[in-house]
Amino acid sequence: MALRITTKLTELLEIEHPIIQDGMGGGPLGTARLAAAVSNAGGLGTLSTPYMMDDGGLGQAIRGEIDDALALTDRPLAFNVPVGTDRTGKVLSGTRVGLNSVLDYVRNSSAARGQIRAITTSGGSPEPFSAAIHESGLIHIHKCGSPRHAQKAEACGADIIMASGHEMGGHTLAVPISTLVLAPEVIARVSRPVVVSGGICSGRGLAAALAMGGCGVAMGTRFVCTADHDWHDNVMAAIMKSNLSDTVLMRAMYGPSRFLKSKATDELKALYNADEMSEDGLSNWKEAAITRAYVNGDMENGLLTVGEVAAVITDRPSAKDLIDRMVDEAIAAIEAVSSQVKHVEPDSK
Ligand SMILES: Cc1cc2nc3c(=O)[nH]c(=O)nc-3n(C[C@H](O)[C@H](O)[C@H](O)COP(=O)(O)O)c2cc1C
Repeated sequence: MALRITTKLTELLEIEHPIIQDGMGGGPLGTARLAAAVSNAGGLGTLSTPYMMDDGGLGQAIRGEIDDALALTDRPLAFNVPVGTDRTGKVLSGTRVGLNSVLDYVRNSSAARGQIRAITTSGGSPEPFSAAIHESGLIHIHKCGSPRHAQKAEACGADIIMASGHEMGGHTLAVPISTLVLAPEVIARVSRPVVVSGGICSGRGLAAALAMGGCGVAMGTRFVCTADHDWHDNVMAAIMKSNLSDTVLMRAMYGPSRFLKSKATDELKALYNADEMSEDGLSNWKEAAITRAYVNGDMENGLLTVGEVAAVITDRPSAKDLIDRMVDEAIAAIEAVSSQVKHVEPDSK
């Protein structure tokens, strides 16, 4: 009989292993094949929204992403919708269109209803969306980077909180709170199950998350560098080659975002400093640079968001090999730590 790690996360989502491949959108290519591979391997694969600036076509792209994944797996999946707001705090139309497109599809397609198990919101407050997510029969996961935001998400009705530390890839909170400080604090302050995220890439990371009281882990960067991912091979090579000082935080759509340093990050910094380009102009510039990296593999002139953990990733396994390896390693780590806990005779003096 094989050993398994079962937690509130595996129970709630009906998955085998407490490992989530988290949302990786905002680019020209989806993550349907990767998400399906992760779900087939017993984790939870997450589908993502593509570029959010243009509402026309977003709904269709989202339905396409779901269809592509459903053709490859019959296991549970999640969909990530970042909550974006404008300068006045008004929710961006792309967020509403994105969320409504997923929920409409889940309501109208029995195939999608059976398999899209959860929506992961991120970025801004999930308050306007939690009720609609529940009404559609889905589990609401919200990702946040501070204990205060975690408590707010719980109050809004989120079923699972994802605590994602500042070392993460993608958008991060402006206030830098690292995973090791953030996760135990969030776990102490909310009663919902907490998924630990940011900087995780191994079974030892999974064991640490469980030891802190987390119900599992979510990873982005580690899953980018797998054989089941469709982005250009140069993206994976750049991750495997990178060192600990190779990421940089830059201003981005929902706050700061961490990128792999390149000529493009230098140019973007200069554009921000010059302060001459409009917000739309900057977004178009970034989209073109992201496309150069993901599609053309031009890592010098392209933009790639990655977490600090990129520096310690040195291989490109399949999603299944990665998940199996992580579970085995986590179980071994937990057993090794447990074996250090011993009864000792009280000091006779
Ligand atoms: C390439 C890439 C794209 C990402 N895009 C999104 C996104 O669209 N929405 C989101 O909520 N998080 C996004 N993230 C963040 C991840 O979902 C996840 O929270 C993060 O990668 C976890 O930290 P890690 O990279 O250290 O594993 C992205 C991360 C990466 C690496």
